[in-house]
Amino acid sequence: MQLDIEYVRQQFDQIQDDPQFVFASNAGGSYVCNQANAVLEHYNRHTRVQPYAAYPSSAAAGEAMDRARRDWSQALNIDPSELTFGPSTSMNTYVMAQAVGHQWHEGDEIIVTNQDHEANSGAWRRKAKEKGVTIRQWEVEPDSGLLDVDKLMPLVRDNTRWVFFSHCSNIVGTVNPVRAIVDRIKSASNARVFVDAVAYAPHHVADLKALGVDGYSFSLYKVFGPHQGLLYVNRDIHGELASQAHYFNRGSPTKDFNPAGPQHAQVAGCAGVTDYFADLHAHHFGASAAPLARKLDDLHPLILAHESALAAPLLDFVDHHPGLRLIGKTHARDGDRAPTIALKPLNMSSQDLAQKLVDAGIGTENGSFYAHRLVSDLGIDPDDGVVRLSLVQYGNLDEVDRILRALDAALG
Ligand SMILES: Cc1ncc(COP(=O)(O)O)c(C=O)c1O
Repeated sequence: MQLDIEYVRQQFDQIQDDPQFVFASNAGGSYVCNQANAVLEHYNRHTRVQPYAAYPSSAAAGEAMDRARRDWSQALNIDPSELTFGPSTSMNTYVMAQAVGHQWHEGDEIIVTNQDHEANSGAWRRKAKEKGVTIRQWEVEPDSGLLDVDKLMPLVRDNTRWVFFSHCSNIVGTVNPVRAIVDRIKSASNARVFVDAVAYAPHHVADLKALGVDGYSFSLYKVFGPHQGLLYVNRDIHGELASQAHYFNRGSPTKDFNPAGPQHAQVAGCAGVTDYFADLHAHHFGASAAPLARKLDDLHPLILAHESALAAPLLDFVDHHPGLRLIGKTHARDGDRAPTIALKPLNMSSQDLAQKLVDAGIGTENGSFYAHRLVSDLGIDPDDGVVRLSLVQYGNLDEVDRILRALDAALG
């Protein structure tokens, strides 16, 4: 069975706006699916009041927010008490740094990478410095930007408290084998593991219990939904962490890791994304009472095959072009390469190439994409950075073709 790409594209009104335009900047933020817009609109038109009071519109508002929590817990195969809706991943990791760091002491160690977006790096590093904790860096291969798990293990010690890395880098685009990495860390230490999945979740919403992580975070505005950061914290470790909630809310797991008031409509709107996935599943597999996590597993091979087919010609072109440097893995055959393709032109600036592509109707841009450490350590000026072409499940081969023609023309 193949992904019905026409059906997928019909779920996104914004694709229909300009058929000549190729949106290739999805890793920055995706289009919003019609299902999520419908939930947002309904919330704003009919239940835009303080939720959880007894009067009807307020009770309905609370139920809309609860539905989002139920649906996303089911999608991620976690308990509803393990899910926090926060403003963004950067804010969620900042808050988590306060929550985890309160127990760090001199002599402890943490491991961070130079592959990550700064959201999964700076907050932990700053907290470690404040507490006198040693920071060890799991370093990427300087040519490809890939992480080698064998190079992580010598860094893991008895006093390693947390290891932070990403499920997929927003530049390198290659998926890190999270379960295998977690197993190796846990067999060698008592360290906790936190994974940034912002660049992975648009391609697959993972079963978090199967991954075995302690914390996990991603941003729904890149997964076809409203601007919300979803944060998972395993309930087994809630007791180890310092609540960040108002004193009278402490111990309320849905508030402990988000001191902000929730953005009611945005939270409710998150259920529109699970509606989209449920619709996509029903379209391909028929009606089913299976839990959402299983439906997402059913959809995964279809989406992966489609996205790999989008990535393959782009990777091939960039890898073989003498005027381009490709970052990350050179092919998508192993099923671990997202169609997030970063390239550095060798004979012009990234800014010039990005502008030429924009002029040709390709929505892309250049920069470090806040993976500043990675881009610098790859030997690239982070201000000019790389050009990033990023596609998701609603991309099609015609768009890939148009990108290739635009690249070819731009490079002369
Ligand atoms: C891999 C990765 N992590 C974290 C973030 C930060 O997410 P947010 O914008 O929700 O703070 C981004 C945003 O681009 C990202 O790509």
